[in-house]
Amino acid sequence: MAQIVGGVITSHIPAIGNAITNKLQEDPYWKPLFDGYAKAREWMESVEPDIVVVVYNDHGLNFFLDKMPTFAIGAASEYHNADEGWGLATLHSFEGDIEFSWHLIEKMIPAGIDLTICQEMLIDHGFIVPMSVMWSHLPAWPVKAVPFAVNTVLMPVPTAQRCFDVGVELGKAIASYPEDKKVVIFGTGGMSHQLSGERAGFINKQFDRAYMDKIIDRPEELCRLTHTELIQQAGAEGIELIMWLVMRGALGKSVNVVHRNYELPISNTGSGIMVMEQA
Ligand code: DHB
Ligand code: FE
Repeated sequence: MAQIVGGVITSHIPAIGNAITNKLQEDPYWKPLFDGYAKAREWMESVEPDIVVVVYNDHGLNFFLDKMPTFAIGAASEYHNADEGWGLATLHSFEGDIEFSWHLIEKMIPAGIDLTICQEMLIDHGFIVPMSVMWSHLPAWPVKAVPFAVNTVLMPVPTAQRCFDVGVELGKAIASYPEDKKVVIFGTGGMSHQLSGERAGFINKQFDRAYMDKIIDRPEELCRLTHTELIQQAGAEGIELIMWLVMRGALGKSVNVVHRNYELPISNTGSGIMVMEQA
């Protein structure tokens, strides 16, 4: 049977992708951030997952305001990335796992999670930056990937509680896959940030640190946050943090934290990384 070997939550700031392309890991601005990923990468090397399910939001590349699914899943053999405006390099394409994707679809839709099924899907920085901080894309990504997109862009976006509940069903669907596969789930985006308007540049360190604490053993408190509360406390784009709850829901009741780090500001954002295993 497939086994969930862990979960990773990480910000997806596009400037991180450009820093990797430009080999700025030792630059004084970037060094603390990249050093904060070293333990997460070591953990990833030790668990050697077969498949990663990346819960992310598309920022206008594959889905635009004309058509915006609340939850969408990739069911393709290959995913290509493209730059939707941040100047990111085109990386090696990602190998998908069609059988695994269809298993998730066939379990989750009857369980009440009405996914949009995407047999073609382009992926943006919300997907590729989390992958790039954990692995190198050359000569090829060492893991198969399944994109799982959440609308955090066009109101109304799903509630925090709904994201957690979707994660619970995602976890059950993964665990019922009959082949022996090691699966890691990524919950991406956040942390506090606001990219435009009067509060552009807003970051809330206290909120971010409390969010990282609560997601370990009090995720139900985060599930109760309304969109208004999230936007007030974490900034307009801080609402991306609801995606972390999909991953947390999938991991089940108790988790052990393998690693965590928080840096700010990175670009416009409080940047977090956490690695967890099921307890
Ligand atoms: C930044 C953060 C994001 O989550 C994003 O999607 C784009 C930009 C930033 O901090 O610059
Ligand atoms: Fe974003």
